[in-house]
Amino acid sequence: MPIKLILVPLLLIALACPVHAESIVPPAPNGITLPGGYQNWRLISSSYREDNKTLRVILGNDQAVEAALRGQTNPWPDGAILGKLVWKEARHPQWPAALIPGELSHVEFMIRDQEKYADTVGWGFARWLGMDLKPYGADADFARECVACHTPVKDNDYVFTKFSTLPR
Ligand code: HEC
Repeated sequence: MPIKLILVPLLLIALACPVHAESIVPPAPNGITLPGGYQNWRLISSSYREDNKTLRVILGNDQAVEAALRGQTNPWPDGAILGKLVWKEARHPQWPAALIPGELSHVEFMIRDQEKYADTVGWGFARWLGMDLKPYGADADFARECVACHTPVKDNDYVFTKFSTLPR
């Protein structure tokens, strides 16, 4: 069989492969794309917001976690990315006193690059909503809202979260 006849079906299978689905998440209005592999990042902490009843985990990529372990987080180094994954609260069906992650509310990120994101205090902010990861914000100005609310912790390089207590 000519080689082309074998390659064409293989190419079609490769194009239809779900691995490619990841790249179709549209970028945030400021051009930031969803950081790949964030589901495998390490845990920094978790939190619960009682006003809007959401559970959160805060994760870091390798650069962020290594910097945090060395205590070098003020400033955080270029390349560090912090992620926050937010779920609406649900009750465990077999143990209603246990609040557990329900519907995914949003995922959001702070990407450290002092030069590239100089206009937004050296962090690239981005958020995607729900399971279909719809980019948040009408235009690039949405990041002002992020900066404004993170300003109370500006002396901590605009980051609220600290490592949760664990023996290390
Ligand atoms: C209403 C205030 C508020 C706004 C607006 C806000 N944040 Fe935050 N953010 C917080 C607080 C408080 C925390 C600390 C932990 C928590 O909420 O669970 C936090 C934590 C984070 C974290 C984890 C690192 C850290 O600072 O602790 C990321 C990442 C993050 N926010 C991204 C964003 C992005 C992106 C936006 C804009 C789209 C945004 N935030 C807008 C209040 C806000």
